[in-house]
Amino acid sequence: MKIAIDGPAASGKTSLGKALAREFRLRFVETGKMYRAVALGFERGIQLADMEICVTEDERFLLNGQDVTAQLHTSALDQKSSQVAVLPEVRERLVELQREIANRHDVVMEGRDIGTVVLPDADVKIFLMATPHERASRRIQQRQSGDLDQVEQEIIVRDTRDSERAVAPLKPAADATIIQTSQKTLKEVISEASTLVRDLLEDVVWSAENRDS
Ligand code: DC
Repeated sequence: MKIAIDGPAASGKTSLGKALAREFRLRFVETGKMYRAVALGFERGIQLADMEICVTEDERFLLNGQDVTAQLHTSALDQKSSQVAVLPEVRERLVELQREIANRHDVVMEGRDIGTVVLPDADVKIFLMATPHERASRRIQQRQSGDLDQVEQEIIVRDTRDSERAVAPLKPAADATIIQTSQKTLKEVISEASTLVRDLLEDVVWSAENRDS
């Protein structure tokens, strides 16, 4: 089982991904944190060739053996990760790591290019959308700090960079289900997405039963 969740910054991918991983017993992989770890590595003067990024089963991110998970969600790294994500050599390295994980585990993987590039054969593809204003206010609630107009502006800058880059831009896969999350509670979004996964599982069981009978 492979579930791909894509969408712009602060659209609720992580909350949804964690909920689906729990419900369907899948490994959750947050690919944005890998780009953040690379940005942190560059900030520390490490060359890409000398960086080793590892993700542990309990979702810890290691940069050259050091657990940097707690340092990845800063507003400085919001922008820097989006800047390093335009570099083809960075994407190549991280896509390889993401596919390696998905080859070994059933996953729910979230990012910007999971349904289009990383796992084009994913069983379920979900693309989340919400207005920049709504996403900015969610981010402020989550981090318990920030000015609404400023955070909204930063989100728009990041959306534009992530969507307009030449390699693997942020966009829904042709076969993705788009879920508009503005005006919806997290519970409603989870319920919509988990229905998609359950429908798929029922189809699989139904086809197997018909094949065997
Ligand atoms: O999901 P996030 O905000 O942690 O992601 C940080 C940045 O990483 C995002 O602005 C763009 C980049 N990214 C990407 O290009 N491809 C992905 N699959 C995940 C993240």
